[in-house]
Amino acid sequence: MDNGIFMKLKISENHPIFNTFHIEARAARYAEYASVEELQSLVPEINRQPVLHVGGGSNLLFLHDYEGLVLHSAIRGIHVVDEDEESVLLAVGGGVVWDDFVAYTIQQGWSGAENLSLIPGEVGASAVQNIGAYGAEVKDIIVKVEAVELATGQVCEFLNAECHYDYRQSIFKHELRGKYAITHVYYRLSKQFKPQLSYGNIHSMLPAGEPLTPQLVRDTVIQLRKSKLPEPDVQGNAGSFFMNPVVSQEQFETIQKDYPNMPFYVVPHGVKIPAGWLIEQCGWKGRALGKAAVHDRQALVLVNLGGATGQDILLLSDTVRQAVKEKFNLNIHPEVNII
Ligand code: EPU
Repeated sequence: MDNGIFMKLKISENHPIFNTFHIEARAARYAEYASVEELQSLVPEINRQPVLHVGGGSNLLFLHDYEGLVLHSAIRGIHVVDEDEESVLLAVGGGVVWDDFVAYTIQQGWSGAENLSLIPGEVGASAVQNIGAYGAEVKDIIVKVEAVELATGQVCEFLNAECHYDYRQSIFKHELRGKYAITHVYYRLSKQFKPQLSYGNIHSMLPAGEPLTPQLVRDTVIQLRKSKLPEPDVQGNAGSFFMNPVVSQEQFETIQKDYPNMPFYVVPHGVKIPAGWLIEQCGWKGRALGKAAVHDRQALVLVNLGGATGQDILLLSDTVRQAVKEKFNLNIHPEVNII
């Protein structure tokens, strides 16, 4: 489109949509773009039909095939765009695999992403979901996001504050849902190691006597994740299926009276209660409903036992949510996008 060059991207029909739940779903049309210009060339096609932008398929539950155009980014590349003594600013393509990016930053000796090691998915989705783990959230290293408005092809930039980040939330999941494709994310990494080890048992998991480095934190996080979370390649899942509910201080105290050992985290707008704990208290940890089950090591994760449909997983989700509602009078909500 730019420079007057006419580009026509291939649009596949009846194309399978990869998802880590391993649920069969097809897109009526599917296109993968490798540059901003290629994405812009799709604008007329985009305006003709419903559009779904996917990343690594690790946060999606398909209930049926998608009768529209599915887009996927193949924009790769990690470039240093600014650097000083303390930090480095990187522009990273939306289609880069998130953990490849984390591994790269650690090879370079940069810190800031190590706690987010091994999270499945791609760079573009990291900025939509505000991925988080072990006391870190990606919003803490995002400087700005470059995105293309799907209806017009216009390139826009959103500074961190304009992305309205919160726990697993951003403007791209709310007001701007479905309106933009994230083409590049700008992350600032630190050249000085600032370990974040306050979360849960991460500190106690570090091997004694070894020098503390971003690589050591990465290795520890990977070990911790592997010990608790099912490998999507082995057993279909989408990581945490639910978000942890944030309740008022009053609601928290009411529940705590009956459950003094309940784990919790005080957060800016209330108290966060681990949904995995709530589900376990309801007796659902490790239990199956047909071909879908609650994972036996982390009740926040729902798994496909093999051959489950999206409806099977949804039925389990609704059943678990109902159980939590009945026992604790609390609503828990899926983190996964249900399509
Ligand atoms: N817990 C239970 N039973 C369970 C699971 C958890 O009692 O089955 C308790 C744990 O003992 C602990 C507390 O709940 O006291 C928190 O558990 P954990 O540290 O495993 O974290 P989480 O709150 O369940 C969140 C993220 C995970 C992330 C971990 C670690 C969400 C929705 N999930 O889980 O993210 O890896 O913290 O930081 O916030 C993901 O998003 O896919 C994901 C895996």
